[in-house]
Amino acid sequence: MTRVDAAARVAADLERPEGASWFRAPGRVNLVGDHMDYSGGFVLPFAIDRSCVVAARPGGSVRVRSLDAGSVVEVPVAGAGDPTSVRPAWGRYVAAVVGELAALGRPPVGMDAVLASDVPLGSGLSSSAALEVSCAVALAGVAEWEIGVEALAEACRSAEERATGVPCGIMDQLASLAGRAGDALLIDCRSLEIEPVALPDGLAVLVVHSGLSRSLDASAYADRRRASEQLAAKLGLAALRDATEADVADEPLGRHVVTENRRVHAAVQALTAGDLVELGRLFSESHASLRDDFRVSTPELDALVESLVHAGAYGARLTGAGFGGCVVAACDEASVADVAEAATTSYRARTGLEPVAFRCHAADGAGVFQAPSYQRA
Ligand code: GLA
Repeated sequence: MTRVDAAARVAADLERPEGASWFRAPGRVNLVGDHMDYSGGFVLPFAIDRSCVVAARPGGSVRVRSLDAGSVVEVPVAGAGDPTSVRPAWGRYVAAVVGELAALGRPPVGMDAVLASDVPLGSGLSSSAALEVSCAVALAGVAEWEIGVEALAEACRSAEERATGVPCGIMDQLASLAGRAGDALLIDCRSLEIEPVALPDGLAVLVVHSGLSRSLDASAYADRRRASEQLAAKLGLAALRDATEADVADEPLGRHVVTENRRVHAAVQALTAGDLVELGRLFSESHASLRDDFRVSTPELDALVESLVHAGAYGARLTGAGFGGCVVAACDEASVADVAEAATTSYRARTGLEPVAFRCHAADGAGVFQAPSYQRA
């Protein structure tokens, strides 16, 4: 997919580049381990080479202009009270982040910023985490305020929940902050320990947007989370992560969590051994579990997974919350372009939807960013 890089758009827009500091935060793709983070389980995402980019300088209030939305949001340095009252709606994320950081003691330094993102919206690649985290690192940067990765991830997670009402887990924000070029991240969502896992040569990670925007996700996501917590309580466990296969033999939601946890560890072994056939098998097994046991797939996502496997991917699965958005496929470097072409052609014919395929590479996590050299002089 061709795109104009977000940093180039921000650079082209800046009238006074001098004095601006640059920050970026990537989206993420999750290889295996969905609907695991809020059950305290393991996940295996990586930060992708698509980011939300912010050019910022200290200011009076917090004033952020989005080149994507074509609008401006302004909130007091102490936050906006209830972020859901902020208009336009994308500003709720900004307002919620400002409020969370103020509560953690960020000095009351305002910020005048411009941002743009090339993480596709509503696609399961954490465009909202990229927005929250890029604003958070920029707010910390302009105030010369230090805060640890875990605390910042939790502040951004909480901001997402306050801005949208969706009780999300920690995976997206942590992956955006802790990414490492070339590596996936094995994250224990209970201890928040992170172990980098190198992506082997020959593996091409292909992401395909189904052409179906995520819908109904807010209420269905909250329902799944509530049901998972209720099941853990019924089993007398702190979280479903602690269940055994026997505990959940007749409980589809719990079965997904227990088997997916096993698949995350098996996927780490497959990556380490460079066994792409096994990795693909785990992807496809994970999709079946999300479809049949956790029930977060859609007929379109199922069709896309089938088209990818039929076209020669080692395996494929929905990534992120589900209910639309993207599928991730493990492919061979040598044939990934052919797989993308054949799978999107067949999917288009089956569904009438317009898929978009692109490769993702594992990138470094959020932080300060060198001003692009093509910045306007
Ligand atoms: C969304 C949430 C995450 C995680 C995934 C599913 O991306 O924000 O916390 O629960 O769904 O794995």
